[in-house]
Amino acid sequence: MNPMQSEGLGIASPWRLSVAPMMDWTDRHCRYLHRLITRHALLYTEMVTTGALIHGDQGRHLDFNAEEHPVALQLGGSEPDDLAACAKLAERWGYDEVNLNCGCPSERVQKGAFGACLMNEPQLVADCVKAMRDATALPVTVKHRIGIDKIESYEFVRDFVGTVAAAGCEVFIVHARNAWLQGLSPKENREIPPLRYEIVAQLKCDFPGLTIAVNGGLKTPDQIAEQLRVVDGVMIGREAYHEPWSMSQWDSRFFGQPDPAPDREAVEDAWLDYLDRVHASGRSWAHAMRHALGLWNGTPGARRWRQVWSDHRLKALPPRDVAAQARAARLSGVAAESAVRGAA
Ligand SMILES: Cc1cc2nc3c(=O)[nH]c(=O)nc-3n(C[C@H](O)[C@H](O)[C@H](O)COP(=O)(O)O)c2cc1C
Repeated sequence: MNPMQSEGLGIASPWRLSVAPMMDWTDRHCRYLHRLITRHALLYTEMVTTGALIHGDQGRHLDFNAEEHPVALQLGGSEPDDLAACAKLAERWGYDEVNLNCGCPSERVQKGAFGACLMNEPQLVADCVKAMRDATALPVTVKHRIGIDKIESYEFVRDFVGTVAAAGCEVFIVHARNAWLQGLSPKENREIPPLRYEIVAQLKCDFPGLTIAVNGGLKTPDQIAEQLRVVDGVMIGREAYHEPWSMSQWDSRFFGQPDPAPDREAVEDAWLDYLDRVHASGRSWAHAMRHALGLWNGTPGARRWRQVWSDHRLKALPPRDVAAQARAARLSGVAAESAVRGAA
C-alpha cells in the first residue's frame, strides 16, 4: 500500500499518530522499545521543565537514541525567554519538534504557573509560542485540554486556539477533557472529567488550516481510524504504554508502510540487544525493562514472563540470563494453558 492509500486522509502528516508525553514513562528507553514496534508514529518525551534544563543536567534530560526519530521534546514552562532558550537546546540536540505543555493539572505544575492553568492566559501562551518560534526553526506545537475547571463553553477553547494560532502555532494536540485544577489528582484528571471528542472535531471545522490532533481514552486501531476521518491526528498514551503490542500494525494501517516487527518474539530479541547495551554501559537494565513488561500481555504465559522480569532478586544478573528464565516461564505457561484446553 502506498502512503496515499493508507487509511485516513492523503499523505501522512507527522502528527497523524503519536505516543503521548508521559512523566516517568516515556523516557528514552521506553521510546526505544516503542520504535521497535512502530517506525512512523511520532514519539514525545516526558515533560521537561525549563528550570530543569536551564539549571540542571542537560544531557541527562535531553540525550536520546538516534533510532527514536521522529521525536518531540515536550517543555513545561511559562517564561517566554526561558522557553526560547530551551527551544534552541531542543534544536541543538536534534529533536524534530518542540511542544509546550498546557494540559498538565498537577499541583506542582500549577505552583510553577504552567501546564493546564496556562489555558487561562492565552496571550501569555501566544507570547511563549512566538518567542520559541523566533528561537528555532523546529515546529512549535501546543498540547492542551478543552477547558479548565467547570468551564464547559466551546468558546473558551476556541479563543485559546485562535489566540495561540495568531502567534504562529499551527499544530494543536487536544486532550478531549477538561482539567479540574482543584480536588482531583493528575490520575483522576485523566479519568473523571468527561471526554468530549465533538469539541475537538468542532475545532477542526473552525480552524481547517490548522493541524488538530485528538487525545484521550482512545485504544484500538478502529477508534484511531474513526478519529482520523474527522481530525488530522491521534495521540495515544496509556494504551501504548501498557499494551505496546497494540501498536504493531500502526505503520501498515496508518502510514502505508511495512510493520517493523513480525511478532512479539522479534521485538523481544531486538529489545534484549538493547538491554545488553544498557547493561554493558553500567546502567540498570531493570530501569529500561519496566517499560516492556506488557509486551506479552493477552497471551498465555504472559504473567509468568512478567513475574520473572520483575523479580528483584534477579536484577544483578545479566539481562540474557533473566531472559532465558522468563522465556522458559512463559513457555511453561503456554504448555499449561494448552493442557487445560486439551482437557476441556
Ligand atoms: C503516567 C502519565 C504521565 C503523564 N505525563 C504527561 C506529561 O508529562 N505531559 C503531558 O502533556 N501529558 C502527560 N500525561 C497525559 C498524557 O499525555 C495523555 O494526555 C493522557 O494520558 C490521555 O491520553 P490516553 O487516554 O491515551 O492515556 C501523562 C499521563 C500519564 C498516564
